[in-house]
Amino acid sequence: DTGNATPVSTAPQAAPSQPLPAASSPRFLLSAPDHFTVSYSINPWMQPQAWAPQAERLKQDAQWGWQQLRQQYELLGAQIELQPPVAGLPDMVFTANAGVVLDGKVLLARYACPERQGEEPHGQAIFTALCRQGVIQSLHYTPVGVPFEGAGDAIWDAQRQLFWCGYGQRSSYAARQTLEAVFQTPTLALELVDPRFYHLDTCFCLLSGGEVIYYPPAFSEVGRQQLAAVVGSQLIEAGEDDALHLGVNSVCIGQDIVMCHCSPALKAKLTALGYRVHVIPLGSFNRSGGAAYCLTLRLDSRRRATLI
Ligand code: ARG
Repeated sequence: DTGNATPVSTAPQAAPSQPLPAASSPRFLLSAPDHFTVSYSINPWMQPQAWAPQAERLKQDAQWGWQQLRQQYELLGAQIELQPPVAGLPDMVFTANAGVVLDGKVLLARYACPERQGEEPHGQAIFTALCRQGVIQSLHYTPVGVPFEGAGDAIWDAQRQLFWCGYGQRSSYAARQTLEAVFQTPTLALELVDPRFYHLDTCFCLLSGGEVIYYPPAFSEVGRQQLAAVVGSQLIEAGEDDALHLGVNSVCIGQDIVMCHCSPALKAKLTALGYRVHVIPLGSFNRSGGAAYCLTLRLDSRRRATLI
């Protein structure tokens, strides 16, 4: 028994004892860090004054780390689509925020901070291009005035048949209504209470077997209760060391987990569950509040995941 039966689920519960192999080759949207820098501060990780004196080295490290991330994904069989980087939009490298995709529909971001709103037309352009290529079928928007920061705050759970949503920092609670209407799926919204963990993906990572790595202090008391009720014994607690290196901001592809940091304790738990951990040096992106998951947007999520 995985203890994860949920009243909102409409699908039979999968109860895998092993992580699921990747169903089909995943398709990701990435954007090279050619213009990545920390020149403004919209979260507590971003300190332009600390960045500036080491900027050249940090930018090189970012290029190197990003290339390794891309290669790791390709080694794991992923197909990569590229969003051309744009000068003056340093956070465009974090493609997870551009939108969220399910069954070929994309719900585009409405950024909360003016610093990132310039990314919106570029998001529209790349998704329109992906539409022409047949990768995406349709584009959708939240109403004006309803902030929504894409897959960073909306994580599709194919086993529980719902979107996990984060709100309270960047994305608004109201965005869940649009998610439900566009994708015709239930949502479960978790309140984020710590400004360091400003997107759900910074403190919540869904694995292919249905387990969830999470950092409890990032959530409200009610949020922690919701997680306990729905995920139960499949919750994996991350400690401060992992959380403060954004190790929770990871990407799971079948039995493989791509992360920027993994403490021995967390690695032991993940390995015992049958996962392989791949650590990629993404420290430069930590200085912007990001890591592996933020740098990646999944384009091929399906409502009904193929189990074989
Ligand atoms: N500097 C970026 C911001 O604050 C980092 C975004 C990270 N993305 C994410 N999905 N957590 O918006």
